[in-house]
Amino acid sequence: MCGIVGYTGYRNAYNVVINGLKRLEYRGYDSAGIVIENKDGKHNVAKTKGKVEDLLAISQSSEYSGNTGMGHTRWATHGVPSDANSHPHVSNNGKIALVHNGIIENYDSIKILLIEKGFTFKSETDTEVLVNLIQYFEESQADLDFVSCVRYALNEVYGAYAICVMHQDHKGEFVVARLGSPLAVGIGKDEFFIASDASPFVEFTKDALYLEEGHIAHISLKDGIEIRTITQNEPVQPAIQELKLSLEQIEKGGYEHFMLKEIFEQPKSIHDTLRGRLLVKEETIKMAGIWDHLERFSKAERIIIIACGTSWHAGLIGEYLIEEFARIPVEVEYASEFRYRNPIITNKDIVIAISQSGETADTMAAIKLAKEKGAFVYGICNVVDSSIARITDAGSYTHAGPEIGVASTKAFTAQLTILSLIALKLGKHNGSLSNAQFMELITELDAIPKKVQEVLENTHEICKVIAKEFAHTTNFLYLGRGFNFPSALEGALKLKEISYIHAEGYPAAEMKHGPIALIDENMPIVIIAPKVGHYDKVVSNVQEIKARKGRVIAVVNPTDTQVRSQADYSIEIPMVNEAFSPILAAIPLQFLAYHIALIRGANVDQPRNLAKSVTVE
Ligand code: F6R
Repeated sequence: MCGIVGYTGYRNAYNVVINGLKRLEYRGYDSAGIVIENKDGKHNVAKTKGKVEDLLAISQSSEYSGNTGMGHTRWATHGVPSDANSHPHVSNNGKIALVHNGIIENYDSIKILLIEKGFTFKSETDTEVLVNLIQYFEESQADLDFVSCVRYALNEVYGAYAICVMHQDHKGEFVVARLGSPLAVGIGKDEFFIASDASPFVEFTKDALYLEEGHIAHISLKDGIEIRTITQNEPVQPAIQELKLSLEQIEKGGYEHFMLKEIFEQPKSIHDTLRGRLLVKEETIKMAGIWDHLERFSKAERIIIIACGTSWHAGLIGEYLIEEFARIPVEVEYASEFRYRNPIITNKDIVIAISQSGETADTMAAIKLAKEKGAFVYGICNVVDSSIARITDAGSYTHAGPEIGVASTKAFTAQLTILSLIALKLGKHNGSLSNAQFMELITELDAIPKKVQEVLENTHEICKVIAKEFAHTTNFLYLGRGFNFPSALEGALKLKEISYIHAEGYPAAEMKHGPIALIDENMPIVIIAPKVGHYDKVVSNVQEIKARKGRVIAVVNPTDTQVRSQADYSIEIPMVNEAFSPILAAIPLQFLAYHIALIRGANVDQPRNLAKSVTVE
């Protein structure tokens, strides 16, 4: 969701910024823009609705040569995607250029005041208000320097932002600030990079700092980086760290799409998530985050899981896992609902927040609320050093590696892996699981990466065939029971996100309470039916569907005969404990969504209207 890239140094800024914007395309956007400072300090701006390729087409001339510049990919919030609403926005006097990720909530009232003072506006955006507010402070308070003007303006606004500002009178300088949206600074020899995440500069430097909430930084080649707090103007020591990210991790590695690459990476991402934690020989699970807080977890009267989207689906499976193995009551909430419904939370509750990106605005706000009410908040994030990872009391990373495809795949199965570890660890600690049960379960969990590899090898081709048959249907139903009810929700979400086919997930037994009315020969139904849990009931559900001529695509185990004999298509996944079956079932559902989207000609990695990290409410 919106991407920012900035560069100052000795390289061609245009190339660095354009390539950086391409790296940030995965975040989701609908317009793009760039500003380059030429050798006289003048700013040349190009911006357009559309993709970075469209921006390239309008900015090829020599005007865009220089060693300082910044660019932006915009995901529309205030105002439609259009050339005028694209960033950078420039102040009325033409001197200040600004790119912004986030929302300025009180922009309307400030805009009225600025119009009264004679300012004019070309766009509908909140960002153009902010850049003119900076000009206003510069003109009305002559003693303020560049960074102070930006700071004064930020103290007048509320909302969420990461901003990067350039000024024609301050060549080779940036002022950057953040509140709620991430911003990283890459530090090279005689050069600086600014970006929404480190991917635009990973090949240039391994030294980076992540700007903290409420901080503003002045960056110049002459004086380096100077950081202050936005409200108090107190100096802050820069905390530079070494990037763990590598270039290979963020490239497609021969795959047609990031999503396909990420589906195939799952044996490794699950293995990496288990590594060093699941120690079968030592008969234990070691997870620093949980280990240090076992007593607190054991005494918890309730665990509340908060998340959005796919992470919320992982949370639902987490509820089954923790209640089954640790016998601790669990509630799962959409972060966006939780934060606004005056929830009852006490200091005896533990809140687990799940977020791949670690930047989701609703999840962040829900965590802040839970902390205010005294709950202990445990984070499960994929992005190291993300905002959620930093504001939670403790947590565990899913070591899935960067997930670039907007539709979450490997991060989801890594979340299920972490939740399995947590449930087993707590169950063993509080005595809900005997040693024998614990050993049996961890041995099975340890074998999951191998089984995922088998699923990848055995289901890809059949999913292509099924995709061909159903790519042009308009609706899909996904059904599952027990641990695989959330699998059905996730399968349906994957399909609608990337293929734009309407799909619904239901607990299989709920079918007869409504959705059965939709079933006829035109309705494909994906049913997740491993031979575990309530298999017999699922067999009856399949019979009910076939009696109404529905088309059944069943995910079954090799020994299954009853579902297979009625299904139009069967996809085999290996036998595994029901608790871990959602990890295996996820893979053919991902393949199915991917191949259907591909046949329909959809943009698999960057589906329309979607953003990778949803940093606005
Ligand atoms: C679906 C998807 C989204 C995210 C949701 C939460 O494929 O990716 O539904 O799961 O926006 O994002 P995170 O996990 O980053 O908090």
